[in-house]
Amino acid sequence: MPAHAATDVLARCDALAACSEEEGRITRRFATPALGRARGLVEGWMREAGLATHVDAVGNLIGRTAADGPALLLGSHLDSVRDAGRYDGPLGVLVALAVAERLGDRTPALEVVAFADEEGLRYGTAYLGSAALAGRFEDAWLARRDGDGITLADALRDWGGDPGGIAALARDPATLRGYLEVHIEQGPVLEARDLPVGVVTAIAGQTRASLTFTGRAGHAGTTPMDQRHDALAAAAEWIGAVETTARAQPGLVATVGEIAAAPNASNVIPGAVTASLDVRHSDDAVRSRAVDALRAAATDAGERRAVAAHWDPVQANRAVPCDAGLTRALAAAVEAQGLPLARLPSGAGHDGVALAAVAPIAMLFVRCAGGVSHHPGEAVRADDVAVAIDVLERAVRGLG
Ligand code: HGY
Ligand code: MN
Ligand code: MN
Repeated sequence: MPAHAATDVLARCDALAACSEEEGRITRRFATPALGRARGLVEGWMREAGLATHVDAVGNLIGRTAADGPALLLGSHLDSVRDAGRYDGPLGVLVALAVAERLGDRTPALEVVAFADEEGLRYGTAYLGSAALAGRFEDAWLARRDGDGITLADALRDWGGDPGGIAALARDPATLRGYLEVHIEQGPVLEARDLPVGVVTAIAGQTRASLTFTGRAGHAGTTPMDQRHDALAAAAEWIGAVETTARAQPGLVATVGEIAAAPNASNVIPGAVTASLDVRHSDDAVRSRAVDALRAAATDAGERRAVAAHWDPVQANRAVPCDAGLTRALAAAVEAQGLPLARLPSGAGHDGVALAAVAPIAMLFVRCAGGVSHHPGEAVRADDVAVAIDVLERAVRGLG
């Protein structure tokens, strides 16, 4: 029977799932009222647990225990993808809070962080919240516009944030012991090995880009095929190349998740297409070569149709190894629970990618049903969550 702390965590994930921009599914973008409601619930739970809370200039929620000295950051993110599951992010925040509640004012000081934007759904750039703490927030991001043309700076101000105060959020590494994140695995390994948890070895590198194919709109009935500049046909050829390139390289994943065609009418030849690109690999050189090849493929697909292909390099993050010392603490805690130790890489990105610039990072994965994530079918088992809470608590005590 799982400890009540685990059933509380799951009940709170359910409460947060109700904080959504959309009826009937979970969508919680950066600087939206839905994310504000979720943050407000977590802040209330933090205060009930005796933590001193504040919301920083970029919208991160931070709850600190009373101990002085360098803090161990624990947490994850509260924002989501579109039509998300309820555990990607919130589980890590709430497991961290459960541990902080158990440990109270012991040392090391703990800061439970609920990051304001890990997914990058609204502005395309991942890790806005953690990048601010890492001193890696780029001012250029403030001018990025969302689908409604609202700049990140305006959205943040309207949300009560302070774009001018972001630079001051950068943490002095001397004030941090490290960052530990608990997260659902979002993959099939732990389930296949019938294990509740595993420690993460490294987080894959990731490149995000935005492609714009610009051709010429025209009449679908009267324009001969050899006189067309069909932007969607160029994009379609390129998207095929994205899949073919990734299938040909072991360990490489590449995805076109977003696409929009204009003017998007069935009897008009598409004049313009925007499409996203997400490329990942554990080896940065392999990823970089693949990105170069896909950029060239976009140009080629365009040239065959006199369609211009513009590449906007949105964001690139190197692969990040987890810190050996912090990982040893997690591994020892797993083995102290009498569990076999699984070590596995993360294909998914996490806030530790940004925080690694100012602190050692480590992660604990929790088994999730079918490895399903970024989907409403995300599911975890209460007894696995109970193990994760115990393992994190034991690891933090060991670092005390
Ligand atoms: O995309 C990712 O890997 C993460 O969910 N942000
Ligand atoms: Mn996540
Ligand atoms: Mn995610």
